[in-house]
Amino acid sequence: SRMLNKEQPLAGKKALVTAGPTYERIDPVRFIGNFSTGKMGIALAESLARQGASVQLILGPTHLRPSGNQIKVTPVESAAEMFEHAKAAFEEADIAILSAAVADYRAAEIADQKIKKKGETLTITLEKNKDILAYLGSVKRKDQILAGFALETENEIENAARKRVEKKADFIVLNSLNDKGAGFGTDTNKVSILSADGVTSLPLLSKADTADAIVTAITQTLTNHAT
Ligand code: CTP
Ligand code: CA
Repeated sequence: SRMLNKEQPLAGKKALVTAGPTYERIDPVRFIGNFSTGKMGIALAESLARQGASVQLILGPTHLRPSGNQIKVTPVESAAEMFEHAKAAFEEADIAILSAAVADYRAAEIADQKIKKKGETLTITLEKNKDILAYLGSVKRKDQILAGFALETENEIENAARKRVEKKADFIVLNSLNDKGAGFGTDTNKVSILSADGVTSLPLLSKADTADAIVTAITQTLTNHAT
């Protein structure tokens, strides 16, 4: 009904979300990771589902899960695994939001045996992972909306704006790590949403409210495309 569509503007739409950290193995018992918990991405997946979208969440190692059971969760470990699942899911997706804290580098070689303690220093050679957001930007169709995140510690807006253009994303959500209550593991976030139209800075909000604001911005763009 019209009522239902108004309440669920994303009914019939497919959305893809990446969230959480990635773990890059260095030997059978160790990895290189980061402090992401996936909370923001899980909130985004839940917000998209509330708006009626059918959601696939590609989730790095975390014990957190979305509430309810409408969201299809695809657990992954490494950036390479996340890339393969994101690439496949994007073909059918109307919306992709890449919020994962993807490791920029992986170990050039994963040791077969546990690395033994030897010298006073240890050097591990790393090689670059593929950039999932930039890849999806390079294959994006006109009818798809792509959003990424940026975490910056200096020249925040300028660097985030450059990432948006270089990776061909419609939106970049800039995370402020400097403000109290914002960042890894917290329940609140303070972000700015960058698009071709400019910058919208949101106040300190719960991750659920931040997610709703991001999803609303995306929904408006989809609506504008359709008219
Ligand atoms: N990203 C990605 N794949 C990677 C690295 C990053 O998809 N291998 C995505 C992140 O999920 C995020 C966006 O790119 O949506 C920006 O991540 P960020 O770490 O801020 O930017 P980088 O391009 O990796 O640059 P740097 O870490 O040097 O600031
Ligand atoms: Ca990075």
